[in-house]
Amino acid sequence: MNPSTTRADTVAAPPPEPPPGHPGEALPAHYYTDPAVAEAETEAIFAKSWQLVCHESDLPGPGARLTGTVAGREVLVVRTEDGSLAAHLNVCRHRGTRLVSAPEPEGKAIRCPYHGWTYKLDGRLVGAPEARRIPCLDKPRLGLFPVNVESFLGFVFVNLDLEATPLAETCAGLAEAVGHYAGPGLVPVGKHRIHDLADGEEQNANWKVIVDNYLEGYHVPVAHPALMRLLDYGAYTVDVQENYVLFESPLRDKPSSNWTERLYQRLATPMPGLTEADRRVWRYAVIYPNTLIDFYPDHVLAWTALPTAQDRAAIPGGFYTRTGESLRTRLARRINIRIGWETNDEDAELVERVQAGMRTPGFEPGPLSQREVAVGWFARRVREDLEEDTR
Ligand code: FES
Ligand SMILES: [Fe+2]
Repeated sequence: MNPSTTRADTVAAPPPEPPPGHPGEALPAHYYTDPAVAEAETEAIFAKSWQLVCHESDLPGPGARLTGTVAGREVLVVRTEDGSLAAHLNVCRHRGTRLVSAPEPEGKAIRCPYHGWTYKLDGRLVGAPEARRIPCLDKPRLGLFPVNVESFLGFVFVNLDLEATPLAETCAGLAEAVGHYAGPGLVPVGKHRIHDLADGEEQNANWKVIVDNYLEGYHVPVAHPALMRLLDYGAYTVDVQENYVLFESPLRDKPSSNWTERLYQRLATPMPGLTEADRRVWRYAVIYPNTLIDFYPDHVLAWTALPTAQDRAAIPGGFYTRTGESLRTRLARRINIRIGWETNDEDAELVERVQAGMRTPGFEPGPLSQREVAVGWFARRVREDLEEDTR
């Protein structure tokens, strides 16, 4: 961006609402390359939206705690003594020390490692050493800064906006469609965890390039030969709602020419709690702005795309299954996850290429296909959030 460009130039007015049936418009290239846009997104998007942090199982009992980073702030998520969830900014109200850094032992309190101010799990300040020597120690006013927290589909989301509409309300239809994959009994498999950023993969693309890529199947015939053999490309559906998008892709009956995929087709069985119909379909959900969840008959993969620079993003995630799964489901899941890693590698290369191409001076995006209607939805949501913030 030209250094003399103003914020208003950075965030132009969105195009008019597309007519019914029109896929809308892709975002202009500078939304993916301009550090000023990346900076604006911190407050306009990340500080106001529900951000996936972990799964309920990552906070197994009272006192369990972990941290995440949301819109540049460290957030502390805890399981309180009554078993509910609480979230706070991870900063001591005395002189600003980071309170928790992973891994931390459980306990009934959060004690600052600097001077020992102590908070209850719900954030109340309950003790400070030599309290009588601290004039104006107004404990009720010095609780940890609260953060909104919600469990949805068994996953834990936080929102810095304390007035935010609950996710369960904004994504009601989604819970109806895929709620049966979640619930108690969903347990992690493997070592990857959503909140473990150090373990997560990074990709060389703006976070929105990664979300865009997840939001369309138009590239599948060209870029993902395995998916093309497994999925009935002609029959996948996209349900675009205001706050989420749900894709449903039926599996093909025709045996794949690849033996591993054929084995998957033979073994695929639904996890406990799923129906026979779920065996024949892969579902993908995007919760605006950056939560991505794959619902397979044999596992659930939840991940997120977090900007680490305007041209780079971390994509931490975790795999989950239902307790009581059969050996057959377990085998199917192993194969499916292997196919998933291949697809991920193909996508990682593509998003890097998109990011590189976006830097071409004068590039303007071409028209979207009907199969990219969710890309148009995402572009509109991003533009609206940035525009609203500018106003
Ligand atoms: S900074 Fe936390 S007790 Fe002093
Ligand atoms: Fe892809």
